[in-house]
Amino acid sequence: MIQENEPEAIRRVAGAGESSRASRGWWDDNADDYQREHGGFLGDQQFVWGPEGLEEADARLLGPAGALRGRAVLEIGAGAAQCSRWLAAQGARPVALDLSHRQLQHALRLGGAASAAGNGMPVPPAVPLVEADAAALPFADGSFDLACSAYGALPFTAEPVRVLRETRRVLRPGGRFVFSVTHPVRWAFPDEPGPEGLTATSSYFDRTPYVEQDAHGRAVYVEHHRTLGDRVRDVVAAGFRLTDLVEPEWPPGNRQEWGGWSPLRGRLLPGTAVFVCHRDDD
Ligand SMILES: C[S@@+](CC[C@H](N)C(=O)[O-])C[C@H]1O[C@@H](n2cnc3c(N)ncnc32)[C@H](O)[C@@H]1O
Repeated sequence: MIQENEPEAIRRVAGAGESSRASRGWWDDNADDYQREHGGFLGDQQFVWGPEGLEEADARLLGPAGALRGRAVLEIGAGAAQCSRWLAAQGARPVALDLSHRQLQHALRLGGAASAAGNGMPVPPAVPLVEADAAALPFADGSFDLACSAYGALPFTAEPVRVLRETRRVLRPGGRFVFSVTHPVRWAFPDEPGPEGLTATSSYFDRTPYVEQDAHGRAVYVEHHRTLGDRVRDVVAAGFRLTDLVEPEWPPGNRQEWGGWSPLRGRLLPGTAVFVCHRDDD
């Protein structure tokens, strides 16, 4: 028997509208808990690609040190805009976009001068915030030099090619889009940090979305699975050239568990895939 307030976790089809509505609702309802739980690991002004802790300051997937200065950068699914704040500190001109109003309120809280005033800490740079769906970006063609997304939008959308095409449209020729998602291999395993998360229990090839639904059958959380080959084909179908696929290894010093990501599983299985995509000249 399903409790009124307890969502049921299943695998079933979920279309674009249902997925988008579920994401907005889930992130609005859970943003406070998410920032409380993960805000310390993410850092107010750090660019972390995933639970392994790979930082853009070390990886330089958006370009070499110094190359960010003056660049217009769109962060997609920015959450509380920690990455954008790091980009601003490097001299870039970021815009942080997210579907969730509550996530963007956390971005305001962390980036607002008021929150830092009087505590003696340096005031983090304020970043322009935009509330919108990544599937319909409210920007003119060629508005940005770079785009990035650390686990934003792409794991949750039913329309990955549409999101990628939109991103390519708002980039200038020569631009670059780097995004991270859950490593597709993880979908074959239970999302558990302990030993039970080490035995494959479902098919890697089953693309049926993961859905949590309420007692009325309405999706309240959706994640979409694409195999590694699907992701490559999506990137190419959107008109990008893929130049790297980074699979960050779990560093020995990282003791942090994040949902199903843990030191135990990180030693044996990839947890994050980062795609580096280029928009060539037309
Ligand atoms: C896991 S968080 C990633 C944010 C940040 N990089 C972090 O690590 O906290 C995912 C974010 O993507 C946003 N998101 C999900 N679907 C989206 C969509 N279709 N368009 C824009 N943002 C979306 C969510 O609201 C959420 O803030």
